[in-house]
Amino acid sequence: MFQGKNVVLGVSGGIAVYKACDIVSKFRKLSINVDVIMTKSATEFVRPLTFASMSQNPVTSDMFEEPKDWDIEHIALAQKADVFLIAPATANIIGKIACGIADDMLSTTVMATKAKVIFAPAMNTQMYLNPIVNENIKKLKKLGYEFISPGEGRLACGDIGPGKLADTEDIVEYVKNELSIKKDLKGKRILITAGPTIEKIDPVRFLTNHSSGKMGYKLAEAARKRGAEVTLISGPTNLERPQGINLIDVLSTEEMYEMVLEHFKDTDILIKSAAPSDYKVKKYSENKIKKASETLNIELVKNPDILKKCGEIKTNQQLIGFAAESQNLEDNAIAKLKKKNLDMIIANNILDENAGFKSDKNKVTLFKKDGFKKEYPLMTKENLANIILDNI
Ligand code: PMT
Repeated sequence: MFQGKNVVLGVSGGIAVYKACDIVSKFRKLSINVDVIMTKSATEFVRPLTFASMSQNPVTSDMFEEPKDWDIEHIALAQKADVFLIAPATANIIGKIACGIADDMLSTTVMATKAKVIFAPAMNTQMYLNPIVNENIKKLKKLGYEFISPGEGRLACGDIGPGKLADTEDIVEYVKNELSIKKDLKGKRILITAGPTIEKIDPVRFLTNHSSGKMGYKLAEAARKRGAEVTLISGPTNLERPQGINLIDVLSTEEMYEMVLEHFKDTDILIKSAAPSDYKVKKYSENKIKKASETLNIELVKNPDILKKCGEIKTNQQLIGFAAESQNLEDNAIAKLKKKNLDMIIANNILDENAGFKSDKNKVTLFKKDGFKKEYPLMTKENLANIILDNI
C-alpha cells in the first residue's frame, strides 16, 4: 500500500535518537522508502552508518560534503518527500525552523520542502514546558506544521513529566495516516461536540467533569484534513483553537443542546464526543451560597439528552455517540446505541487510567447498529479519530 512513498526522516540530537532507528525499521517493513538527514549532534548519539544500513539509503548530515549525485541534495530530498518527519525533534531544531534559520542540512531541507512536516519532540521536561519552546510550537502549528505530542514519564535525565518521544508505533501510525490521507469526506458536513459542560451553582461554583476536549478536537482535525466541512461545538477546554474549523463555544448542556439542534438539520454526520452534564441545579443562586450549616443540599434536575433528541428527529444524518462507562461496558454501550437511535457507538472505560478522560490516548470498543463489534488497543486519540472516520 505504501510502495513508492517517500519519507524524509530528520533526526536531531538527543538521547532518543536510538528510537529513530526503530522508526526507520518500521517504515521499511511497510515498504516506505526512507531518506535520513541527521544533524551533527545526532551523529554523536548514533553513527550515520546505522541509519544507512537500516534505510538502505545514504545518510546526509554535512551540507558541504561532496554530493552523491548531481542533484543539489537538500533540494532533491525536499522535493522527494511525501512526508517530512523530524524525530526526535529537539528544542533547538524546533526553534531554528520557527525562526526561519537554515544553517545545516536538516533545517535547510525543511525550509525547501512543500511536504507536510511533522515534528515528534523529545527533550527534558522543563525544556518542553519552557514558554519559548511553547511559543515556537504554537507559531509552527499556526503555519500548518504538525506535532505528535511527546509521552510523559521518567526521562533519561531523571525528570518526570512530558518530553519522552511518543511511542514509535504511534509515530509510524500518524505518518501512515498522513501518507494515505484520502479526501473521502469531501462535501460532507460534520458536526462534532467536545469537552465538558459546566452548570453554574452560584456566581462562584459550578458542576463539571474531567473531559479535556482532546478526543473531539482530534476528530474535528482529522475530519477537516479528510475534506469535511467541520463545525465543532465545544465546552470550555484549554486546547488551542483549531484552524479551518467553525468553532462554537458553549458553557452549559442547555447551550450545547440549542447549538446542536440549530446545526443538526444541515449536518450529514453528528459525532458526540462531548461529556455534557446530565444534571443542572434546579435553582441558580444569584448570590454566593454562604457556609451556614454542616451539610448543604443542592437539588439537581435533568438536562436534555442532546443525542437522544437528535436520534428522535434524524432524517438522513448518521449519528455517532460515545459511551463513557465504568462497568458493563458492552451492555451499557449497546443499550445507549438502541435508546438513542445511533448508527455507531464508541465505548471507553473511564476507569482505565491511560485512556478516556484527559489522556492523549484512548482504548475503545466500537459497536454498530448492524451488530458489528471491534475492540481496539490503546492508541493516540489522533489515530483513533481516523479509525472512527474510517468506520463511518
Ligand atoms: O474529552 P477527553 O478528555 O478527550 O475525553 C474523551 C471522553 C472520555 C469524554 C470521550 O471519549 C467520551 O466518552 N465522551 C462521551 C462522554 C459521555 O457523556 O458519555 P455518556 O455515556 O454519559 O453519554 C453517552 C452519549 O450521549 C455521549 O455521546 C454524550 O455526548 C451524549 N450525551 C450525554 C448526556 C447528555 N445530556 N446529552 C448527550 O448528548
